[in-house]
Amino acid sequence: MKFPDDFVNKIICGDSLSVMKSMPDCSVDLIVTSPPYNLKNSSGNGMSVNTKSGKWAGNSLQNGYSHYSDNIPADEYANWQYECLCEMYRLLKEDGAIFYNHKWRVQNGIIQDRKDIIRDMPVRQIIIWKRKGGINFNPGYYLPTYEVIYLIPKPNFKLVPRANSYGDVWEFTQELKNDHPAPFPVALIERIISSTYATTVLDPFSGSGTTAITAMALNRNYIGIELSPEYCQKSELRIERNKVQSEVLKSKTAKLFEMSL
Ligand SMILES: C[S@@+](CC[C@H](N)C(=O)[O-])C[C@H]1O[C@@H](n2cnc3c(N)ncnc32)[C@H](O)[C@@H]1O
Repeated sequence: MKFPDDFVNKIICGDSLSVMKSMPDCSVDLIVTSPPYNLKNSSGNGMSVNTKSGKWAGNSLQNGYSHYSDNIPADEYANWQYECLCEMYRLLKEDGAIFYNHKWRVQNGIIQDRKDIIRDMPVRQIIIWKRKGGINFNPGYYLPTYEVIYLIPKPNFKLVPRANSYGDVWEFTQELKNDHPAPFPVALIERIISSTYATTVLDPFSGSGTTAITAMALNRNYIGIELSPEYCQKSELRIERNKVQSEVLKSKTAKLFEMSL
């Protein structure tokens, strides 16, 4: 596969690490991603998602993803994710940044703050994403409602003017009209991409293609990498639908403009 022709504005169906390794250094401006969280790992530190009394009872992730179990030993998972972050960092231009979404949790008394993944990455800031909604079946816990987004920039990364006024706690409702088990809300990705000058945005765990369609809507290029052929196909359909919708919108706007002359 040749860069950029086989990558830019494409959803590539394959393993994230192998595909990233085939891309040249400094080839993207922005990386926005949410990896699998290893929610079902069997080390005893995994979150119980498959019982009615679990904190996330009823969570659609209880069956894992279509082509990935989300259930590997904790050490293996942390090494894999760290290696992915190193590849992402290599791919960034000198004014680029990674927005890496993850979840902190306490499991069997062990605080999992993801330091085992982040290690020596030059984190500049942690953004709290407050997800509204959810149902808690467990009387022993307050309803968990937040996730974190690590901002990991290259040295020359800057936000566009006024984006810093969003602060570092963002409230966005979970996406309900999407049958992927863990989709990003479009509004969250819109905020991230529109806060930057990025031309090309990569999501190496692209799922249902939310980063891709949002980049498109904001007139940026996208590169999506996703293991599941099923989710890749769904992303392509979503991209096509969004292309049609934006053409319809453009022609309606043009007609209104003509009428106003
Ligand atoms: C949290 S979901 C991402 C959802 C996405 N943000 C969205 O809005 O739809 C993580 C995705 O990573 C995919 N995945 C798991 N292992 C992968 C791998 N080795 N390479 C690429 N994608 C992988 C899963 O299939 C899943 O769709």
